[in-house]
Amino acid sequence: MNELQWVEDIFEKIIKKSEIVASRNRENIPYTTVEGRFDDMGKSNFCWWTNGFWGGMMWQLYHATNNDLYREIAENNEKLLDKNLMEAQGLDHDNGFKWLPTSIANYRLTGNLSSKNRGILAANNMAGRFNPAGSFIRAWNDWGESKNTGLAIIDCMMNLPLLYWASKETSDPRFKQIAVLHADTAEKYFIRPDGSVNHIVEFNPETGEYVKSYGGQGYAEGSSWTRGQAWALYGFVLSYIHTQKEEYLNAALRVANYFITNIPDDGLIPVDFRQPKDCTYEDSTAAAIAACGLLEISKQVKEADHEIYEKAAIKLIKALDEKSCNWDEKVDNILEKCTAAFHDKNHEFSIIYGDYFFIEAIWKLTSKELFIW
Ligand code: GLY
Repeated sequence: MNELQWVEDIFEKIIKKSEIVASRNRENIPYTTVEGRFDDMGKSNFCWWTNGFWGGMMWQLYHATNNDLYREIAENNEKLLDKNLMEAQGLDHDNGFKWLPTSIANYRLTGNLSSKNRGILAANNMAGRFNPAGSFIRAWNDWGESKNTGLAIIDCMMNLPLLYWASKETSDPRFKQIAVLHADTAEKYFIRPDGSVNHIVEFNPETGEYVKSYGGQGYAEGSSWTRGQAWALYGFVLSYIHTQKEEYLNAALRVANYFITNIPDDGLIPVDFRQPKDCTYEDSTAAAIAACGLLEISKQVKEADHEIYEKAAIKLIKALDEKSCNWDEKVDNILEKCTAAFHDKNHEFSIIYGDYFFIEAIWKLTSKELFIW
């Protein structure tokens, strides 16, 4: 058997299932499945942070197959996001997650100028969230009584490529400068000496002083929310790719080495590496995202280290394929056992970005990827 036959087999399974699933989800923007069928988060919350991933999946599928079905759905997803672009309260640091997989992907593939325009608007709004006191990009807007003025979160590392892209497109260094200032702050305040990372860090928004860190979507303060670790290792290597600043590659490696050391023997990733021993909650999204980040890292390190990161990524992907994928074409999602947050009521369901990053990982291994970050 050819060394990469297993990954080609997964690619074929994705293509076969996706055409059927996409055909019955042309107008909606899925977040999760209800009795096996995708919901419509585009309708129930048109500003939700995950609303770009369905479009992103469609662009990846279009890039690999040239099937116009996927392009039409992706274009529709992008247009549905315009309502969000006009809603200030619904715009935040996650502009990257919404417009990189949709408008920027479209622009990269087709040169569509309306898509470029959307991307620049989203980047300007995101850059406007930079707080010079503390040198961080504010994550969220206030939620009612909850004042989020001083909060930054590790996930933002994945949103920074929107700013790197905007600098290139406009030849305006300010976007990139803001991204670098934020990445420097994240490196200093989020990564712990052992390579694990905080989810949320609070700064005094007036003085910029560090206030404290929070457990956020993980188990507790000082714990190790696995999706946050994955956002960090992938996000820092992306900042390295865009800036060539060696310290970002080193940051990505510190988090990646910590992550690899903590991968359980069965390759299935818990919601938090420090959740109680008797808790079995898993999060397949963390595995898929980490696999993507590890594969990018493997391309940036010296030849002798390449295999360490590629092997770890392959272990994660194989475990997902064997134990956490649903290939039944009557069911819309691919990945099972995704978890949004440790303390939520529901755990281990399907989440759209799990499918997105699983596909991205397979596309990286089969050289089919449209690089959207
Ligand atoms: N960016 C939010 C999350 O990972 O749940």
